[in-house]
Amino acid sequence: MLRLQSMVISSCLLLAVTAKKLQAQRLIPQPTQVTATTGVFKLSGATAIIGGRSAGEAKYLQEAFDDRIHLKLPLQPSAQSNFIRLTLNEKLDSLLGKEGYQLKVTPAGATITATTNAGIFYGIQSLQQLIAYKDGNYFISGVEIQDKPRFGWRAFMLDEGRHFKGAAAVKKLLEEMAALKMNTFHWHLTDDQGWRIEIKKYPLLTKVGGHRDSTQTGSWNSTVYDGKPHDGFYTQEQIRDIIAYAAARHITIIPEIEMPGHSAAAIAAYPWLGTKHTPIKVPGKFGVHYDVYNVTDPKVITFLHDVLDEVMQLFPSKVIHIGGDEVKYDQWKADAGVQAYMKEHQLASPADLQIYFTNNISTYLAGKQRRMMGWNEIMGAKLHEYNDSKDIGTTKLAPGTIVHFWKGELNLITDAVSKGYDVVNSYHAATYLDYNYEEISLEKAYSFDPIPAGLDARYHSKILGTGCQMWGEWIPDVMSMEDKVYPRLAAYAEDGWTLPANKNFKDFQTALQVFYARWSNRSIYYHR
Ligand code: ACM
Repeated sequence: MLRLQSMVISSCLLLAVTAKKLQAQRLIPQPTQVTATTGVFKLSGATAIIGGRSAGEAKYLQEAFDDRIHLKLPLQPSAQSNFIRLTLNEKLDSLLGKEGYQLKVTPAGATITATTNAGIFYGIQSLQQLIAYKDGNYFISGVEIQDKPRFGWRAFMLDEGRHFKGAAAVKKLLEEMAALKMNTFHWHLTDDQGWRIEIKKYPLLTKVGGHRDSTQTGSWNSTVYDGKPHDGFYTQEQIRDIIAYAAARHITIIPEIEMPGHSAAAIAAYPWLGTKHTPIKVPGKFGVHYDVYNVTDPKVITFLHDVLDEVMQLFPSKVIHIGGDEVKYDQWKADAGVQAYMKEHQLASPADLQIYFTNNISTYLAGKQRRMMGWNEIMGAKLHEYNDSKDIGTTKLAPGTIVHFWKGELNLITDAVSKGYDVVNSYHAATYLDYNYEEISLEKAYSFDPIPAGLDARYHSKILGTGCQMWGEWIPDVMSMEDKVYPRLAAYAEDGWTLPANKNFKDFQTALQVFYARWSNRSIYYHR
């Protein structure tokens, strides 16, 4: 008897464990805590959405259900059963933070509780992933989830300087980011090969800088060009529309305006921005070998301030990304005026000049309550073989800057955090989506920890989170981009959200089946 009892108990336990596993295996990113409970909540056209103070999220949920499972759920002020209830409770802040949520599913209905509408929104995403289908019914098995993200910065970057994709492609990406609870869209809008954002004061930036005659194809050393013009830019009206679309999904858009390098398209539009003042064309060749801004010319600084003014008018984000990567210093070294300026300001190396300039921009942004972010070259270390060993900057970077780490070793991260800077970890060998699947497999992407091994624990809180970067050189169209982005985007989403102890690559792969179905339904191409 005792034996039978214990067998019953252990098989109940097994069922509970299995049920929990089944629930957990539908979710990306994996939540903090998933507990299977008894019973099943059957969804129907009569399931009421009780939005409470979360009207925008209730509407989003209504549209998502209509889109996904063709159920048009009514919005109602209350219901005794058959409901999806959204509840804000600010008192749960210490438990859930600003982005966490609780989700409780019983036969009577589903309740999502959070301290903010971002948390409600993420609860809605989990709820959607849990919907199963059997015998003509949509249902969700009983469950209690408690969840909050490990990091506050969970980013995806799209480079449209190299290849313009357009508003429809961007919105499609934003919707997938939202489903994966990513909250930061880093929009790389300017580069050597194209300027993609309308600036009203300088119309040639897009008229000239938004167009190139021909584009290198294949790979970095290729001498083959497609001979076809490539054009495209966003009007300010389109940008406002995309910002609103992102905001409805609790995604902040961080614009990146590259300076002082990666600026050939702007210099093609206005040659006086460079040191040489001679006309150049928007290049169709990729790699690092182009003109840079003359940052010693007050007219150039005014131009950059003007551009940033329009950018800040458009983007509500607190953080503005100014690039700062891969500056070749040859033109500054060759220019007598730049050399005289460096002497006058006691700047020992061109890297010091870059930091001096970057600090000027930082001060300008700080004066408008914005915070500067730049790739980790802005700290002054030599990262590239094309720079001289003497091209090291020792000038102090402005406090408050966010250092976007992509290249170098742990010592550079330690250097940044020990000097007080916050860091976003986008280490290239782990997070670059332009790398092929041989270089960064799904498993490698999944196993990335934004807190690098060996970083002193006292600095862990200085790592704000992580980004994955879709550089645009070799993705001329949306399908080639999607092949690189999916499914690795899901892995990076979990890297940013889930505690390492809760990560499990096998379960992740099982849960991906839910996303494969989702992506197929949404005509998104994913790498097989
Ligand atoms: C970079 O990959 N140039 C930041």
